[in-house]
Amino acid sequence: MIIKATDEYLALLNQAVAREIQVSAQYMLQHTKIEKLKRKVIKENYLLETTTYDEFGQILKDLAIEEMKHLAQINQRIYLLGGEATTKPDQVIIGNSMREFAELDLKAEEEALELYRQLIEAAKNIGDRETWVLFTKIYSDEEEHLMKFQDYSEMENEPDLGETPDSEWRSIFGQEYIALLNKALASEISAVVQYTTQHEKAEGLERMRRKKNALEVATGKNKASVVSGVLKETFLQEMEHMEKISERIYEIDRESIATINPLPEIGNSVDEFIKLDREAENYAIVLYRKVITEATRLGDIKTKKLFEDIIQDEETHYWAFDDFLP
Ligand SMILES: [Fe+2]
Ligand SMILES: [Fe+2]
Ligand SMILES: [Fe+2]
Ligand SMILES: [Fe+2]
Repeated sequence: MIIKATDEYLALLNQAVAREIQVSAQYMLQHTKIEKLKRKVIKENYLLETTTYDEFGQILKDLAIEEMKHLAQINQRIYLLGGEATTKPDQVIIGNSMREFAELDLKAEEEALELYRQLIEAAKNIGDRETWVLFTKIYSDEEEHLMKFQDYSEMENEPDLGETPDSEWRSIFGQEYIALLNKALASEISAVVQYTTQHEKAEGLERMRRKKNALEVATGKNKASVVSGVLKETFLQEMEHMEKISERIYEIDRESIATINPLPEIGNSVDEFIKLDREAENYAIVLYRKVITEATRLGDIKTKKLFEDIIQDEETHYWAFDDFLP
């Protein structure tokens, strides 16, 4: 072991993990809601090529990805220290206006800074230099995020969003149907977290392994590193699915719900990872067929088309994982 990490210390690192998952999902879902706010709130927006909404929307997406990178880096550290990373996020809150987004996000960044100050201190005390370096870097990222959100939270008030009356064509988007779409969203968030965490754990397992054969040493590659690469590519695609599904929910003027379901399962070896991942893909495919059936029945062609595209990716993922099964 590199250094002796106490349970308390690992718990602190896991608090950081819970935060990073939370903010990553929070910013991504806010990003998907922006379009809806933009079209509804300020009439003059129609006349502009880019608006504050577009700018803020892009910032939210960029930051969601940056937080996901933080998550990966912290996970990697936890696995190198011999710990187990949590997959349970802190509570995601989305908000109803750009200003509210900014206020919620500002608060999240403030809390992160507070926690990371503690972590930097703890890393110093325990003599864990690499974690210290990592969190000093993340700390300065979070400080930048905080300042961005500060600008937007100090803007003048926006008008209220108000309810859209449901026209006849939208009456098909009933509660049960939206719940089904949110179930799909929840499974995408789950896949993102599962694959990101496994990707880092695979690298950790790989580095701690002693016995390597000649081919592995010569090529610098083996099953764990190849699977780790597949996981990375896959989680990026799941993140896109998550974005598109949430966008669709907001497009039809309903609310996305940020839950993680099923709970991500990580496993303890590369063989276990891919077995669990194949199951996760199987779950998604079965669920999305249901979405397609419902969308077809209701005549929601756009959602049907979206899930037809997504299901093709999931099948590709399924076979990619299947290829690596022993
Ligand atoms: Fe972060
Ligand atoms: Fe941040
Ligand atoms: Fe997906
Ligand atoms: Fe997938």
